[in-house]
Amino acid sequence: MADAFGRVVRSARVSVTDRCNLRCRYCMPAEGLRWLPRDEVLTREEIARLVRVMARWGVSDVRVTGGEPLMRPDLAGIVADIAALPGVREVSMTTNGVLLADRLDDLVQAGLRRVNVSVDSLDPDRFEAITRRRDLDRVLEGLAACARHADLGPIKVNAVLQRGLGELDVLPLAEMARTGPFVVRFIESMPLDADGAWTAEQVIPGDELRRMVDARWPLAPAARERPSAPATSWRFADGRGEVQFVSSVTEPFCAQCDRVRLTADGQLRTCLFATGEADLRTPMRAGADDDGLAAVLADAVAHKPAGHRIGQPGWSYDGRSMSRIGG
Ligand code: 5AD
Ligand code: SF4
Repeated sequence: MADAFGRVVRSARVSVTDRCNLRCRYCMPAEGLRWLPRDEVLTREEIARLVRVMARWGVSDVRVTGGEPLMRPDLAGIVADIAALPGVREVSMTTNGVLLADRLDDLVQAGLRRVNVSVDSLDPDRFEAITRRRDLDRVLEGLAACARHADLGPIKVNAVLQRGLGELDVLPLAEMARTGPFVVRFIESMPLDADGAWTAEQVIPGDELRRMVDARWPLAPAARERPSAPATSWRFADGRGEVQFVSSVTEPFCAQCDRVRLTADGQLRTCLFATGEADLRTPMRAGADDDGLAAVLADAVAHKPAGHRIGQPGWSYDGRSMSRIGG
């Protein structure tokens, strides 16, 4: 199923909760973000139903996100349901890793195939300054658990580095890609923080980070993982691993985007920066059949915007933070 610009939708990011146990500055406020009322959040069965409709209609890759997906006790069940759907090729998860160590085995058993863990600093104090929680050790235990699972494919470490603090974290994080089974990805911070405090000056351009890594350990360009992959890939010239750069702000990749997002409350977002959402929950709860839901999906995709214009004149966003959309 293609949108108005010929882009075929193949992947879905499914947010299973808006709740989180961290409070990353570029995402959530320190306190006071109202959680969605429980009855507005999709049940396990409702998630499976909507993903089934998406899969029937062409979505093959499903990434489970949040908030923090592990905040849901029934996450392994959700993963198992999705993995069993016809048409679904791969189920992956983006997590902050805090609750991962104890639950990874069950998730892999349920069919989880790839994991991205967000780690913005390997220094406990800077980790706390960013996430407002002192949980680095638990995240590192989660990563160690991932490293013990040979079946998990490349384990990705997501790092959002911000000007003024992040410069200190570039090399230690890049080094993880040399010493462990991790692909480290540097993601430019986007204006998706609940506080609305994002400024263009906070962004460390991916190219600048790449040059910092290259100056220490020379890098050679590698092929993108897929044409629609948001990240550019670089190998260490000495063969010891790979780093990636997701330069959403300075080098938008909207023209190759193959994604849609389902929020925890059952709204379809065709772009992180879309100003509208298509409500799938209301018709589903009113008894719509799969064809009816697929029609809502198709209509939303037909109106998927060409791309974002972050930072350009006249640009604005609707204030739904990343934790409420789903990375
Ligand atoms: N800009 C860029 N990335 C973000 N994430 C959360 N908020 C932002 C933002 N404002 C990332 C997290 C995580 C993924 C879900 O999205 O670090 O890796
Ligand atoms: Fe939680 Fe992820 Fe947002 Fe951090 S970025 S507060 S881990 S949802």
